[in-house]
Amino acid sequence: MKARACSLALLLMALGAGFAVAGDDGEKKYKRPKQLSVPLSAPKVWSAECGSCHIAYPPGLLPPAAWKRQMDTLNKHYGSNATLDAADEQAIRDFLAATSTVNRLPLEPSPKAGEPPRISTTAWFIRKHDEVRADVWRRKSVGSAANCVACHAGAEKGDFDDDRVQIPK
Ligand code: HEC
Ligand code: HEC
Repeated sequence: MKARACSLALLLMALGAGFAVAGDDGEKKYKRPKQLSVPLSAPKVWSAECGSCHIAYPPGLLPPAAWKRQMDTLNKHYGSNATLDAADEQAIRDFLAATSTVNRLPLEPSPKAGEPPRISTTAWFIRKHDEVRADVWRRKSVGSAANCVACHAGAEKGDFDDDRVQIPK
């Protein structure tokens, strides 16, 4: 656990240094998702399948290329097997591809080799959460940064408004 805390701290420091540079020419280098609402037309199979182990992450959180990598590697999904039948997989692919273009985010690979891109390791995510201490992420009530709904009750609807954030004890 110590090693993990340490590498997270290093990661945050490295990214912090990156921001100091990026800050100089601002907006151009730093993109964050602004549109996160989930369309009413979202297929049921998406919320059922992609919301069974964790919340169904709103598509606007990642760019289309990142979702493609998710869908291309479902058999090796962060240590889980999330394989789907062909029809369901295609329906989810089409939905994610069409819905995730709105925010024009860059593709950011996971820092951990061999896994698809994460939301929780993107530059905007780390910056938005720089006030959340490392030990808070590890609380039993939180578990990991991927567990958005622990602090953002409306996460599945795409509501991450900072006025409604509540960090559990
Ligand atoms: C069998 C369980 C399971 C299913 C089904 C599943 N996932 Fe996951 N997913 C996981 C696990 C485990 C993680 C890693 C969570 C962590 O690090 O805390 C994860 C992580 C993720 C992440 C990265 C979260 C982060 O850290 O930013 C994304 C994005 C994601 N899943 C998308 C999907 C999509 C899209 C589907 C449907 C096609 C799906 N998942 C279905 C188990 C699953
Ligand atoms: C441990 C609690 C916690 C978890 C888990 C968490 N967040 Fe946050 N989130 C926060 C806090 C605290 C803020 C900052 C609020 C502020 O700036 O006042 C924030 C801010 C945000 C913002 C910016 C909101 C705004 O109005 O500017 C977004 C977007 C966001 N989080 C998305 C996510 C996503 C997506 C996940 C899961 C992959 C997640 N968060 C997981 C606590 C959390």
